[in-house]
Amino acid sequence: MLKEDDKSAYAKASADKMQKIVSFCKRRGFIFPACEIYGGLANSYSYGPYGVELKNNIKKMWWKKFVQERADIVGMDGPILLNSKIWEASGHIKGFNDAMVDCKKCKKRYRADHVVMELTGKDMEGDLSGMTKVLRSGLKCPECGASDWTEAKNMSQMFRTEMNAVEGPIYLRPETAGAIFSDFKNITDSMRVKVPFGIAQIGKAFRNEIVARNFIFRIREFEQMEIEYFIKPEAKWEPLFDNWLDWQEEFAVSIGAKLEDLRRYEHPKEKLSHYSKKTIDIEYNFPFGFGELFGLAHRGDFDLTQHSKLSGVKLEYFDAVNNKRYTPHVLEPTVGVDRLILTAICAAYTKEKVKDQERIVMKFPHSVAPIKVAVFPLLKNKPALVEMSKEVYDKLKTQYMCEFDDNGNIGKRYRRQDEIGTPFCITVDFESLDNQDVTVRDRDTMEQERIAINDLDAYLAEKLK
Ligand code: GAP
Repeated sequence: MLKEDDKSAYAKASADKMQKIVSFCKRRGFIFPACEIYGGLANSYSYGPYGVELKNNIKKMWWKKFVQERADIVGMDGPILLNSKIWEASGHIKGFNDAMVDCKKCKKRYRADHVVMELTGKDMEGDLSGMTKVLRSGLKCPECGASDWTEAKNMSQMFRTEMNAVEGPIYLRPETAGAIFSDFKNITDSMRVKVPFGIAQIGKAFRNEIVARNFIFRIREFEQMEIEYFIKPEAKWEPLFDNWLDWQEEFAVSIGAKLEDLRRYEHPKEKLSHYSKKTIDIEYNFPFGFGELFGLAHRGDFDLTQHSKLSGVKLEYFDAVNNKRYTPHVLEPTVGVDRLILTAICAAYTKEKVKDQERIVMKFPHSVAPIKVAVFPLLKNKPALVEMSKEVYDKLKTQYMCEFDDNGNIGKRYRRQDEIGTPFCITVDFESLDNQDVTVRDRDTMEQERIAINDLDAYLAEKLK
């Protein structure tokens, strides 16, 4: 057990680490507060030049693992604006709510279950009157210390908008899953998929969160990577469920998370929706504590049955071998791209001493690193060195995200690349002019070796594979 003093020191160190990561991300072009020149917009963020590379790499890795390398999973890409019947069928229009509560004195708004948990350690999600009672029993607002609370009330997380030629409101999708279920028939009709099979999708989702917080962990516009994996109703699903947990954890490790920073949280039976057999979240140990990264739910046949009911179109699978039609059940592995990015950044962020000097180095796995190779001429005022290094750069950039840098001394250029996690730096020096070779410096070991320019392709292909 940590003593109170240790606990507050730990909380401060965690907040400091998070603060360092947030300012590092801005300083080094990974993630910026969006529309900052206009004062920003309620915890919205833009991905900068390195952030977007990181994001694309993570999405590509996920697609490769779960679509390209899987004969049983196909991809799709549906629209953000969908027929509102989809959200009626899924229950989002009626029931996708979070409880909010305001401090009457300082007007700070909280998610009621979160503030109750923070102040009492009790999980009271869903119990509006219980939360109001507990808060009004003397609990103090963490912001101003007053004890004057509004009643806890439900607030819809759906963003509403309207569309010309469409009656009634439409919604920015709160999850990508809806489009997958509504295209189930198109996919089973057009592809030779056989149960068990999955449909995968990557795309934006929108939730009007009461409080966006912890940098890009909880935001209102985010990206999801979801799979609906259809199985036979009578299938023994438990081993497959466990496999999906392992595959999700493997993916987290492949983007740099340490296995010991992951843990599984099973939702208690009494909190599961009536149709769900089991739900487990995989959480990551962020600087602010463990938080949900992946979800995995057994959703039974709820979604296909509901969409059949509301659309009037049968959503069944035809088993040609047994000449039988049935509604498959579904396992749903899901993850937020932005949370994976935050995981990759937190896991990679390292400060270390090198010869009495501190270096920040992002120890990204090679596949995740935004820039793979940087090329430098030793001196920028020696045209022969500049020309040769540009030739090397022009050749490599056709295969890898590369950077050319001739600014400042070599030590500073190495540090700049270490900070963005570039695995290899290539320097063209005077020996290169005579020998047609270069030095290649490794980000992690900082060791250098000489490689013939003609061998660079094979060398990097091996190292970066
Ligand atoms: N279709 C199921 C579904 O949407 P969810 O647990 O609500 O399940 C899936 O969301 C994943 O999306 C979460 O595990 C999390 O990684 C990510 N996510 C959810 N809300 C988010 C938010 N406000 N900001 C960033 N990521 C979020």
